[in-house]
Amino acid sequence: MPCASYSDPRLAAVYDPLNPSDDDILFYLDLAGETPKTVLDMGCGTGRLACELAARGHQVTGADPAAAMLDIARSRSGGEKVTWIETKAADLSVDTRFDLIIMTGHVFQVFLDDQDVRAALRTLHQHLAPGGRVAFETRNPAVQEWSGWTPEETHERVEVAGVGTVEVHYDITSVAGPFVTFETHFRFAEDDILVAPTTLRFMNQDELAAFLADAGFTDVTWYGDWDRSAVSPTSPEIIAIAG
Ligand SMILES: C[S@@+](CC[C@H](N)C(=O)[O-])C[C@H]1O[C@@H](n2cnc3c(N)ncnc32)[C@H](O)[C@@H]1O
Repeated sequence: MPCASYSDPRLAAVYDPLNPSDDDILFYLDLAGETPKTVLDMGCGTGRLACELAARGHQVTGADPAAAMLDIARSRSGGEKVTWIETKAADLSVDTRFDLIIMTGHVFQVFLDDQDVRAALRTLHQHLAPGGRVAFETRNPAVQEWSGWTPEETHERVEVAGVGTVEVHYDITSVAGPFVTFETHFRFAEDDILVAPTTLRFMNQDELAAFLADAGFTDVTWYGDWDRSAVSPTSPEIIAIAG
């Protein structure tokens, strides 16, 4: 079932105000570099990275299974320069072969069972041009970032154009092995509250390395944060750039 946070147009509209662009976007723009490339932004969401890449002269495809997110992406400034495709990673099937495939915003963590992970990585590998790379991040399970996803620590008020003030908080409902399930509570008005459940998988570097090898990747560069520092037990991210 698609996560309501992305498939419901009202909730999709809250995504950008709630998730301002950050160092991750700068990292991937830098990785794409200045020489024009054929780039796929898989799980592109509202298209902010895809449109930035296209504005810099790259030939960009943005893909996402959530129509409501793609509607926002298409209407974004520069959206007309990007080819948009409604698909899950595992179901991608296009003739284009990409120099760079990016999955950011922790999209990788929505692949829950081993079969989902394998199918997504194999499909992305098949869509690479010779010498191409797939780059993505997953949160480091060792730092247990989810322990801070409490209503008190995450409560935020955001202004959404055309909607008004929306209050948002997260609340963990279960932690079962590598699977963390939480609810996002969206309060549009006193009597207008939507709750969207999400489950994410947290994977360590060794497990991820094995999945990448299984999908056909032979060369992986690893970072633990957006400043390109090494992966360590305390680094917030596990960033893989695999070819
Ligand atoms: C947290 S958002 C990240 C959006 C964007 N990459 C960003 O950084 O702003 C996660 C996105 O993953 C998409 N998604 C969910 N399941 C997916 C799948 N199986 N394959 C590809 N994308 C998926 C969602 O629709 C959503 O747009």
